[in-house]
Amino acid sequence: MIEIPEAPVTIESTYVDRHPGSMRLNGRASAVLPNGVTHDSRHMRPFPIYAESAAGAHKRDVDGHDLIDYVMAHGALLLGHSHPVVTQAAQAQLLRGTHYGASHEREIEWAEEVVRLVPSAEVVRFTSSGTEATLMALRLARTFTGRPGVIKFDRHFHGWHDYVVANSKYSAGPPPGVPQATLDSVSVLQLDMDEVRSVVAARADVGAIIVESAGASSGQLPVPRGFLQELQAFCRAESIVFIMDEVVTGFRWAPGGVQEVEGLEPDLTTLAKILAGGLPGGAVAGRREVMEHLRFPDPGSKAAKIGHPGTFNANPLSAAAGVACLREIADGSHQQRARDLGAQLRAGMNAALCELGIPGFVYGQSSEFRIVVAGTQVPEATDYDPHDLPWALMAEGMPGERTRLMQLAMTNRGVHLFGSGGLVSSVHTEDDIARTVEAWRDALVELRGERALG
Ligand SMILES: Cc1ncc(COP(=O)(O)O)c(C=O)c1O
Repeated sequence: MIEIPEAPVTIESTYVDRHPGSMRLNGRASAVLPNGVTHDSRHMRPFPIYAESAAGAHKRDVDGHDLIDYVMAHGALLLGHSHPVVTQAAQAQLLRGTHYGASHEREIEWAEEVVRLVPSAEVVRFTSSGTEATLMALRLARTFTGRPGVIKFDRHFHGWHDYVVANSKYSAGPPPGVPQATLDSVSVLQLDMDEVRSVVAARADVGAIIVESAGASSGQLPVPRGFLQELQAFCRAESIVFIMDEVVTGFRWAPGGVQEVEGLEPDLTTLAKILAGGLPGGAVAGRREVMEHLRFPDPGSKAAKIGHPGTFNANPLSAAAGVACLREIADGSHQQRARDLGAQLRAGMNAALCELGIPGFVYGQSSEFRIVVAGTQVPEATDYDPHDLPWALMAEGMPGERTRLMQLAMTNRGVHLFGSGGLVSSVHTEDDIARTVEAWRDALVELRGERALG
């Protein structure tokens, strides 16, 4: 009799065996959804997990596994899943109607909360997403200044519309399908004031500079200390509209975002994610003078008006959830708790790396964390200030295959990472953190056993 050797148990085969329901759903999804997914970041070999329900800091997949969740709705959930305050507000609104096709009081309250919390916000316009918010902010800036040129920064992510997709994490090369004239209107620079000054002088048409407030890809590459202050001062001097993209950092770094922490007053701020309490929503907020271009001009005035319909702008359901969420997070205690837990998690994960002698580090700003298992061991520390870490290692990150196997190995142990990191909420517990660190230590040993760590 011929003996068929048994396939070795690997991280991937364990993942496949543990998730038959997700595998089945992904097979079905692949017939009707490109790659079977609805967001690029969920594309995953051999298949992503399919969630069935979620509560607090956990979600449950269709195969019945409980997962400690660090995706946290791509950063939209500072209060975790189905926080009672948000859920009750949304449920009550659901019973009163989801779309009036009319103005409503919740949208006023929502805007009032934004103006109360975000230091530079005088006037607000709601959109359905962060992508729409950055699109609107750039159009406002071009209208206000009469200058079409835009500066964005290398690898800074502002959504997926035509003006911001050059050099972002989702398109390294020339982005397909974007007209060359659009690409030519945008200069992609390093975070270097000399470069900014020389491009503004050479182009002479720059009307807007947009920056991810905590640095490229939600803080993967931090902004050098003092850079935002210099950039704001330069924009003021050159009458360029300074746009801080606080889609991720807004309401997370502090109730008023990075601008509150750093004492900044951008002309425009783009918001989404936490803004709507986990429902769809975005906004541009900013100086009245710039935002005026959304107003219908007074009779006889020749002021330019930007057209802005949008079926789901300030949708009552999102507005109700958003108001409840923003009121809940207004005193800063949720941000503080999430930040403390984030630091605890990074410290625990770093301790495991040191203990096992594996080169790499876990770092992050505020309540985020990022894993780099690569390069040389950085000096032992419990937590790292990203400004002090080797830029090249942060920029390079980990090889895709290493990130993938790490995600699979952690999922097998009941931890759902967001790429090579994640976000901590205010409802994660010390026990969640301890269990994550334990899973991490075990996963590292297994990854090393499979020679997945280089
Ligand atoms: C900094 C930043 N800006 C804009 C966006 C786009 O927001 P949305 O996904 O709501 O379109 C994102 C999304 O992750 C983001 O991280």
